Amino acid sequence: GKGAAMVTAVAYRLAEQSRQIAQTLAEFQLSKEQLLEVKDRMKTEILKGLGKATHDTATVKMLPTFVRSTPDGTENGDFLALDLGGTNFRVLLVKIRSGKRRTVEMHNKIYAIPLEVMQGTGEELFDHIVHCISDFLDYMGMKNARLPLGFTFSFPCKQTSLDAGILLTWTKGFKATDCEGEDVAGLLREGIKRREEFDLDVVAVVNDTVGTMMTCAYEEPTCEIGLIAGTGSNACYMEEMRNIEMVEGDEGRMCVNMEWGAFGDNGCLDDIRTQYDVAVDELSLNAGKQRYEKMCSGMYLGEIVRNILIDLTKRGFLFRGQISETLKTRGIFETKFLSQIESDRLALLQVRSILQHLGLDSTCDDSIIVKEVCGTVSHRAAQLCGAGMAAVVDKIRENRGLDHLDITVGVDGTLYKLHPHFSKIMHQTVKELAPKCNVSFLLSEDGSGKGAALITAVGCRMRQQEQN
Ligand code: GLC
Repeated sequence: GKGAAMVTAVAYRLAEQSRQIAQTLAEFQLSKEQLLEVKDRMKTEILKGLGKATHDTATVKMLPTFVRSTPDGTENGDFLALDLGGTNFRVLLVKIRSGKRRTVEMHNKIYAIPLEVMQGTGEELFDHIVHCISDFLDYMGMKNARLPLGFTFSFPCKQTSLDAGILLTWTKGFKATDCEGEDVAGLLREGIKRREEFDLDVVAVVNDTVGTMMTCAYEEPTCEIGLIAGTGSNACYMEEMRNIEMVEGDEGRMCVNMEWGAFGDNGCLDDIRTQYDVAVDELSLNAGKQRYEKMCSGMYLGEIVRNILIDLTKRGFLFRGQISETLKTRGIFETKFLSQIESDRLALLQVRSILQHLGLDSTCDDSIIVKEVCGTVSHRAAQLCGAGMAAVVDKIRENRGLDHLDITVGVDGTLYKLHPHFSKIMHQTVKELAPKCNVSFLLSEDGSGKGAALITAVGCRMRQQEQN
């Protein structure tokens, strides 16, 4: 009768809906062949970044860091460290003691950087940073000590020495004017001078990946790679000097900050980018840049999810076809929410309550779809990150002419730490794509702060040697 026909019509519509949703999400599923292809392309871009003739036009910049060795345990002293560019801005005091019982003691304070400062003038940004240092020194009662300082500045910098770094381009959420093309150690020194209140010795400019590698290497000498899977995505590793054509000399190794987030900026990932990746890129502060980072880091995963949800809603598959103001708001899905939504222990009712908390009214069916979308996007992110890492470990293995390499990666970042599945999928991908390498991952405890201090210690020692 009529009733049965209606039931059939509804069932048909639902089946068609799930087919279309599945089809949308299928664009995010990468085969092993595709991932191997990504690994291969990363390798190609690495070689371009390292080569003298290709460096200038390379997208993956492979920046020399002037860090030539991992710590050896003789590092000693009291250091200040700044950590700018991750989820929080922090000022730290790090006390490192060498000897039989090596110890590292840390004190730190988190400061907010208001959006208008992140995107205001460079002078305002650095005045704010120096203001925070001043507050911290008061708090620690140390205004009069002229401490050596390591500046963890997690953006691409062209370094010509340990204590200078020219900002090539802002990434992530920063956009302060008059900083690109400037030495950020110089900008910091000028800010300190303007304040006329205390003096500090800026000894090292450090990328967060390098700080992370150094922190882990302090405990585990096989650690020669650093990885950040957080707000941004990037890696560094110990490369052979003979391969780094931008730096004189062939002896030994130097750590290179890959800036792999820019992978794909020349179009080499276009075949795997979806319309949602393109939309996220085009609406970002730095359209066309950091395309790989925009597919695999915490700052953008939520945005990809949001763009998919908007599309599914427009097509009538979600939220009763109503696009709410909330859903139109950029940045609503932070890493911590994605991590919660994907947690296996969470009942669907709790997923709904998270969505509710974000201002999204969902039905039970909606919450199932949202969870599936989040899972799909973060799964691809972890695989892409793993494919990049597979290229790095194989490069190191080939550098050393080995059939088999054992190596440790020091890792930090909110996505890696908070997300319930990211790390596992990333590890698995590296294993599958680089079968000749046995890769261990070591979580870095406060890499940016401790690592900056360790590098500063090495920098101070080098200065003393130069003076003698
Ligand atoms: C961005 C920055 C890079 C940093 C990474 C992780 O990719 O350009 O320098 O290491 O984020 O914070």
